[in-house]
Amino acid sequence: MRQLLIKGSLILFVLVLMLIASACEKEVVITERTIPPITTENKVSTTEKIKIGFSMDTLLEERWLKDRDLFKEAVEALGAEVEIMAANGDDALQVSQAETMISQGIDLLILVPHNAESTATIVHKAHLAGIKVIAYDRLVKNADIDLYVSFDNEQVGEMQARAITKLVPKGNYVYIGGASTDNNAHLFKKGAFNVLQPFIEKGDITIVYDQWTKDWQPANALANMQAALKANGNQIDAVIAANDATAGGVIQALMEQGLVGKVPVAGQDAELAAVQRIVEGTQTMTVYKPIKALTDKAAQLAVALAKGEKVGENQSVNNGKIEVPSVLLSPIAVDALNIDETIIADGFHSRQDVYQTLGQ
Ligand code: BGC
Repeated sequence: MRQLLIKGSLILFVLVLMLIASACEKEVVITERTIPPITTENKVSTTEKIKIGFSMDTLLEERWLKDRDLFKEAVEALGAEVEIMAANGDDALQVSQAETMISQGIDLLILVPHNAESTATIVHKAHLAGIKVIAYDRLVKNADIDLYVSFDNEQVGEMQARAITKLVPKGNYVYIGGASTDNNAHLFKKGAFNVLQPFIEKGDITIVYDQWTKDWQPANALANMQAALKANGNQIDAVIAANDATAGGVIQALMEQGLVGKVPVAGQDAELAAVQRIVEGTQTMTVYKPIKALTDKAAQLAVALAKGEKVGENQSVNNGKIEVPSVLLSPIAVDALNIDETIIADGFHSRQDVYQTLGQ
């Protein structure tokens, strides 16, 4: 009996030991699961890169190449990555490119709309996938855009008109607008007319021609300016063109009539060709928008929003549907007198590139 008892307690002891051992084993497993050792594999998964999609209208104009390169640099400096697609003016293509990026699982979409209205569908689709959208440089109308980052575009037009009215306070003016499908074109025009209106009311300035430029194409601006000159028997005293590309078309038309350098022309963007024309005296001024400031700000806000952080922007712009939280940077008026301290000092263009035509 005693032996039996000893045997029994031995078996019990062994069983308890086994139970303890198995419990310990489980504990080890659990511990391993909750505190995984740091390997390069799970390091990547915990700090997975934020991926931004950048849907651009076009890369066929000089300024947008700068936007593309500087935005990529800024996003990468923040440890995130960016996929870039450009539709080159094709609305349907811009929608399908954005859809592709949305389905590839980007964390945030940043959008330069070709068409301010029709790109609202992109915003809607991104939101259905839980992706926030930032309008870059150009506003998307009638959509629940999360943020808008641009320059003060009305101020751009005001700067143009201020510079030209200083030189020509009286006379026949031509306004060559941008693409009517681009909200900015309306803002540039509004700004220019804010300044022109009092002159028009006094009867000092007459707007003898006022036309949009389809798709911002210089060839269309050239045709419009030719029509303006013809309709007015060349009696034109000043021209405000919405950007440098359209100013290029205007200047070509003036050249055909022997009027180049005689009629002041305003543009925008500080494109290299335009800055060279300012040095030559064939274009009066441009409005310089420091693109790096825009891309840095946009990249910083895009990464913050993608991480779900709150970005407290205190300005807002109405897009027909909502008050869009906005960041609007300041443009800079540039003429022959301040090229060096602005465009060249910033490294936007090199001194050699700007002055090459004069061999300096
Ligand atoms: C931009 C200008 C540009 C124009 C044509 C506008 O929305 O603000 O800088 O010249 O589009 O691309």
